[in-house]
Amino acid sequence: MAAQLTDSWTLGPLSVPNRVMLAPLAGIGNWFVRLQAKRHGAAMAVSEMVSSHAVHHGNARTCTEMLRIDPRERRGGPVAIQLFGSDPAVMRSAAERVARAGADAIDINMGCPVPKVCRTGAGAALLGDHERAVAVLRAAVEGSGLPVTAKLRIGQRPGERDGIALARRLVEEAGAAAIAMHPRSAAVQHKGTPEYDLVGGLVQTLQVPVILTGGLRDRKSVEEAFARTGVSAVMLARGALGNPWLFGMLLGRRDREPAIEEVLAELRFLIAAAVEHLGAERATRWLRKAYPWYVPRLAGGGRCAAQTVQQQLQAAEDLAAVERLLEGLEAGVPAMESGVTAV
Ligand SMILES: Cc1cc2nc3c(=O)[nH]c(=O)nc-3n(C[C@H](O)[C@H](O)[C@H](O)COP(=O)(O)O)c2cc1C
Repeated sequence: MAAQLTDSWTLGPLSVPNRVMLAPLAGIGNWFVRLQAKRHGAAMAVSEMVSSHAVHHGNARTCTEMLRIDPRERRGGPVAIQLFGSDPAVMRSAAERVARAGADAIDINMGCPVPKVCRTGAGAALLGDHERAVAVLRAAVEGSGLPVTAKLRIGQRPGERDGIALARRLVEEAGAAAIAMHPRSAAVQHKGTPEYDLVGGLVQTLQVPVILTGGLRDRKSVEEAFARTGVSAVMLARGALGNPWLFGMLLGRRDREPAIEEVLAELRFLIAAAVEHLGAERATRWLRKAYPWYVPRLAGGGRCAAQTVQQQLQAAEDLAAVERLLEGLEAGVPAMESGVTAV
């Protein structure tokens, strides 16, 4: 019988309680975003990408903030930290430190198309240097003693398939515990239709679990892609931003969209956690990127209402002003009347 999203699976020595994960999201996937996904059912969450150099050199903010794992995250399943880098010795040292920080697994970024990352030979640049990619992953395995996965693109440019050949080498020569595949080329970044059939082919040939990411925006797209490819698990990325309820929907734990009270509670959880983690001033800035994810569900009806709520949240000068706006929404006051003044 075909696997269900609710079935458990194994990643090396780890038992993963279901097949829905949170994908790595740079500047976003810190402990509280991962915890949010876990609370809603995600079996495993991968951190935002972390520089192996910064970890190796003991950069204070990287090591305290980006490697922070909240004990509550573990209740739902394993926690993985994603590292990027191109120097095997540095990766070995960083992986060792990540293991000491308490990660259950490490993922190596081999798909980031951002020039700043690729120029250093890391991210998607590794798709063009398989020897180095194998050495980097092997070093992470040796340094950490943890299961190490790699997250790849299908190729650097449209039509290229380097990622398929590299995935095989990472498993056979470096001991990758699983391959996460984003079947879009690095050149198109996050646009276009993912080539799911290529991932289906990879599933047939690899001896380790394959995890699918790309284009998984709602229940229908996830269920179709999971069935079509036969992957061991799916990773939600943009589809989970402002919609942690999607995890619950996919796992049969809920069957309706959240009420506004639930949306507000989720946003308040995020605000409180951001303040605890970053302090009020940095949290105020960090949260400005999070509001747009929640606005469509907060504003209820209409593009106009959403735009107004969006503008007022972005313009709120501090978190007290944000809370006044949320209280207004809670009381059913139209956004324009809720007393939040733009700065
Ligand atoms: C804002 C943003 C940040 C991302 N950061 C990372 C990252 O740090 N590491 C990584 O491997 N992929 C990263 N990705 C790629 C996602 O993990 C995912 O593979 C991609 O968005 C495709 O999934 P989607 O089409 O369902 O969004 C990022 C994507 C977005 C949109």
